[in-house]
Amino acid sequence: MENIRIGFVGLGGRGQGLLKDVVLAQGEQVVAVCDEYEDRAQAGAQHVMDAGQAKPAVYLNYKDMIQDENVNTVIIATAWESHAEIAVAAMRAGKATAVEVGGAYTVEQCWDLVNAYEESGSPFMFLENCCFGRREMMVLNMAQQGVLGQIVHCVGGYHHDLRYEISYGRENRHYRLRNYLSRNCENYPTHELGPIAKILKINRGNRMLTLTSVASKAAGLQEYVKKNKPDDEFLKDKTFAQGDVVTTVIKCAGGETILLNLDTTLPRFTAAILR
Ligand SMILES: NC(=O)c1ccc[n+]([C@@H]2O[C@H](COP(=O)([O-])OP(=O)(O)OC[C@H]3O[C@@H](n4cnc5c(N)ncnc54)[C@H](O)[C@@H]3O)[C@@H](O)[C@H]2O)c1
Repeated sequence: MENIRIGFVGLGGRGQGLLKDVVLAQGEQVVAVCDEYEDRAQAGAQHVMDAGQAKPAVYLNYKDMIQDENVNTVIIATAWESHAEIAVAAMRAGKATAVEVGGAYTVEQCWDLVNAYEESGSPFMFLENCCFGRREMMVLNMAQQGVLGQIVHCVGGYHHDLRYEISYGRENRHYRLRNYLSRNCENYPTHELGPIAKILKINRGNRMLTLTSVASKAAGLQEYVKKNKPDDEFLKDKTFAQGDVVTTVIKCAGGETILLNLDTTLPRFTAAILR
């Protein structure tokens, strides 16, 4: 596609970084920015001008941005809840569309994405950067060259201590807090599943057949809030829905199994603790 003219929606932590350090650093033209928070939308516009480009149109509602005829490409770095809705609307408005991970909340939303892509013909991409990591591409290449022999089982995980990010979600206007309060699931599988799916040729002759997912009880965040934010009136008596560790087993048509592990709300045993 020639003359890419980007409308960028979602300018929180990830959005600002993706806009400034990837999109603008590569010299791509950004003609519109959008965030529900005006200060963030304006900060995005400033990044565009700092990169030497004309002031972009600033929107607070993505529906207005995707009607902008000057925009032919939409990059979505909003919170999880809105990914599928915005991506479907952007594709149906005829824009090339790229969306950050996770991408969808329900199986219905996955089908909405497929249908919008097939019916609109608009190019679409998940921005799953881990598929393009140097080490992940090395392993994929090794698998494709047969260096690893027959692949029987793959293991992946998302292991980060996110207790600070989540429990300060109100102060930082961050989406993870409301998710951890109200949902209990494998909420972030794509960083590990993307590279594994490539190795196992998922949708290229192989497919996933069955999935079992179990969550442990939720104790880590409550304990963290009790110790570190005892005066937080909002969180003090709250129960978190999201289990601390979620384990998922997937069986593939080719006979392979995949084990995924989400582990984001327990303390880590660092050298400092062990001393
Ligand atoms: N690929 C990666 O390595 C990576 C790393 C970090 C975050 N992410 C992803 O990036 C996304 C954003 O993460 P974040 O940490 O920046 O979150 P954040 O909460 O800091 O930012 C999200 C922004 O989107 C805006 N927003 C939400 N719904 C909107 C809507 N309907 N219209 C306009 N604006 C809307 C919010 O106001 C907020 O400013 C998430 O999907 C996250 O999973 C990916």
